[in-house]
Amino acid sequence: MERILADAVAMKRTRGAHKTKPLAGQTWMLLFSKSSTRTRVSFEVGISELGGRPMFLSAADIQLGRGEPIKDTARVMGRMIHGAIFRTFAQSDVEEFAQYSGIPTINALTDAEHPCQILADIQTILETRKTLKGLVVTFVGDGACNVPVSWMFAAAKLGFELRIAAPKKFQPSAALLKRADGRIICTEDVKAAARDADVLYTDVWVSMGKEAESAARLKVLKGYQINQALVKLAKPGALVMHCLPAYRGKEIDDTTFEANADTIFTQAENRLHAQKAILNWAVS
Ligand code: CP
Ligand code: NVA
Repeated sequence: MERILADAVAMKRTRGAHKTKPLAGQTWMLLFSKSSTRTRVSFEVGISELGGRPMFLSAADIQLGRGEPIKDTARVMGRMIHGAIFRTFAQSDVEEFAQYSGIPTINALTDAEHPCQILADIQTILETRKTLKGLVVTFVGDGACNVPVSWMFAAAKLGFELRIAAPKKFQPSAALLKRADGRIICTEDVKAAARDADVLYTDVWVSMGKEAESAARLKVLKGYQINQALVKLAKPGALVMHCLPAYRGKEIDDTTFEANADTIFTQAENRLHAQKAILNWAVS
């Protein structure tokens, strides 16, 4: 992760003037079963800027959408393309694709994890803080969805404190906490979690695929909003972050979102630079 983060900084600094094109002559597939703005655009642009050709495929438009197994799709792709960026529901589908295709396969979000997002977020934090030493990140909202879970693995690997403020039902499972094995505090007390934090972070209350649970989720998650009152409890100058898309009035209020728009859209921009570093790592 440290190597990728250092390369992400270099990718940002040298954009438009990269000396090497590590994906020259390669075709990389983006296979998406869920909607995307940032991930799709940043990968398509990033692959092109590294000399490769991106090929976007909606899962619904290929035979996969009509029931062809992942492992067969993967074996076809493995004989034709050089790498895959896969956004889908089950984490096991991405892992199966990687196993059967034999080509680099990047997780572009599953129900379980969103690792590319968190790398870009950490790049964003490092641009203002310089070090992760002593960092406290507080995630507020649906603490069991893909984004906080990837934060858990990052916290454990990089050694910072992660607090997850969420209703009991939306906290990560004990098994997941054990697997991550980091300094991770889960609580229903959103104020205690926010106190003296360096970063307040949130994500949608209703993730893709959970639409049927919307009404119930909005009710239970109501108190888990990043707003001006919560920001006051965090460290002065604390970063307020959001992976986007944002639903104002739900997980964050409009005033707080707009006051922190520069950080939030820098996170979005850093998806490009961080993912170029991931691509570079995958082929080197
Ligand atoms: N944050 C993020 O992954 O955005 P998209 O769903 O637009 O790709
Ligand atoms: N947790 C959200 C992240 C969107 C980028 C979702 O899965 O919809």
